[in-house]
Amino acid sequence: MKPLLVTFGILGLLLAITAGAFMAMGGGGAVDYSTMTGAEVYGKLCSQCHGGRGTAPNGSGNSYVGKRDYWDKESLLTYIADPRSVKKKMPHLARSKRAMNPIPRSVPTAARERLVDHVIQLMDALK
Ligand code: HEC
Repeated sequence: MKPLLVTFGILGLLLAITAGAFMAMGGGGAVDYSTMTGAEVYGKLCSQCHGGRGTAPNGSGNSYVGKRDYWDKESLLTYIADPRSVKKKMPHLARSKRAMNPIPRSVPTAARERLVDHVIQLMDALK
């Protein structure tokens, strides 16, 4: 057999395996947030630390219990985009040594607004 053909054959096979694995992982993890409800975005990006109801059962995020009065829609939108700079201005967070990462840039504005509405609902339920 011609060595060049064998090389191309092997390369083609490797490419097919890689592409297959990529598809199996959901196209490389590109999530379409634009069609998700606020609760769905919360479930995907927030609940692992804050818990499904916002009580932070495993302690990796802050609990939302008693936090409703500190936040409104606008401040939450600013906070999730840039937690480190907003926390400095929040009396109850300013001295905390913990930190939260900003929400991925791939989450569009409308989805962020639905997410924040959901967080406010959770906080309302935990007043
Ligand atoms: C990897 C864990 C983690 C994830 C994921 C996470 N957070 Fe947090 N969150 C934290 C931590 C830790 C704090 C406390 C930060 C501090 O002390 O300054 C916090 C604080 C907050 C607060 C302030 C609560 C208060 O005490 O007033 C809000 C609101 C909040 N997160 C919302 C969200 C939202 C919405 C998402 C999803 C987009 C999210 N978080 C994802 C860990 C997380």
